[in-house]
Amino acid sequence: MNVLLTGGLGYIGSHTAAALVAAGHTPILLDNLANADLGVHDRLAVVGGVELPFVCADVRDTDTVARTLIEHRVEAVVHFAGLKAVAESVHMPLAYFDANVGGTLSLLRAMDSAGVRQLVFSSSAAVYGTPRYLPVDEAHPTEAITPYSRTKLHIEEILADLAAAGEWRMVVLRYFNPVGAHPSGLLGERPQGTPNNLMPFVAQVAAGEHPCVEIFGDDYDTPDGTGIRDYIHVMDLAEGHLAALQRLFAAAPALETFNLGTGRGYSVREMIAAFAAASGQDIPSRVAPRRGRDVASCYADPSRAAAVLGWRAKRGLAEMCESAWRFQTRKP
Ligand code: NAD
Ligand code: UD1
Repeated sequence: MNVLLTGGLGYIGSHTAAALVAAGHTPILLDNLANADLGVHDRLAVVGGVELPFVCADVRDTDTVARTLIEHRVEAVVHFAGLKAVAESVHMPLAYFDANVGGTLSLLRAMDSAGVRQLVFSSSAAVYGTPRYLPVDEAHPTEAITPYSRTKLHIEEILADLAAAGEWRMVVLRYFNPVGAHPSGLLGERPQGTPNNLMPFVAQVAAGEHPCVEIFGDDYDTPDGTGIRDYIHVMDLAEGHLAALQRLFAAAPALETFNLGTGRGYSVREMIAAFAAASGQDIPSRVAPRRGRDVASCYADPSRAAAVLGWRAKRGLAEMCESAWRFQTRKP
């Protein structure tokens, strides 16, 4: 398959590119470098043994995207490109609607004009808002508690209307909390500035870049009082995209939605302990106030993806932490 990955140099996009190459497919990468660097392209060549086509462009540049689809004989698109910092979206909603909703509309127009109507879309567990029951299945009500999650919900609604109009085949993947890195240590998550998410921050504390982890609240209604999330190895997530792409080429409905998670939740304290064990480093922590808009617990019911896509997460917590630590210490 020739597959266009928008945002293909980003965290999840680059790991998906590696998984596609390993399975014998040809990813074509398109990225505007808003949150990625060109070194990822070089390292993907080392990991996969092949230099991948790369187009430096914004998804809102409809003509360039349409040209890329035709020139590279693209059969399907995985749409990762977008902005994802939840707290930032609260202060800059217009930028988020423009990049995420506007970017998706531009991509869909380009795909339509090029006659490529098969799409996998990166959505988020954030669309569930505050869980009303656990584990969260795909039928759980949706609720936008931030502009970021509203962009994902708007896009899901646009895709549903497109599906009803005919001709399109689409899969929406709602990711839980991706962590970890490629086993080579050459690809991983390197956020710009101080990380907002737990695991990249814990990795930097283990490396001595910050004095301690702040635990945002230890008075939640959970066994140890700290927040519980469904952390999923990014390579498992990457392989979920392969399964979704295969599904697009089967006799599937026009639009399907799947949770990609493990079905198992871990608390902040459990994550810190696991990372300390994997890295052999002391990881100091202290309790800080709750972060606004955080939920106590959120973990997936991933049984639909298992039943329909034949996909399930295989890698455990130790492998998530070890690979993240390898990337942190190798500093490619
Ligand atoms: P990332 O920031 O590492 O990757 C996104 C990539 O898109 C970056 O390389 C960036 O340079 C590029 N990009 C951004 N705007 C662009 C534009 N207008 N045109 C072209 N390229 C653009 O993020 P990620 O963690 O890999 O996330 C990928 C997708 O998955 C995003 O849509 C995100 O919302 C979604 N998602 C991520 C998580 C997570 O925890 N990482 C969870 C749920 C959903
Ligand atoms: C965050 C986003 C969510 C997005 C997800 C993946 C918010 C409110 N939610 O989810 O929409 O889909 O990232 O990108 O930003 N924690 C600490 N100390 C830290 C950092 C985090 O204790 O320094 C705790 C949090 O309170 C939470 C857990 O660790 O309980 C996980 O946090 P994080 O990694 O930011 O992910 P989410 O909050 O699940």
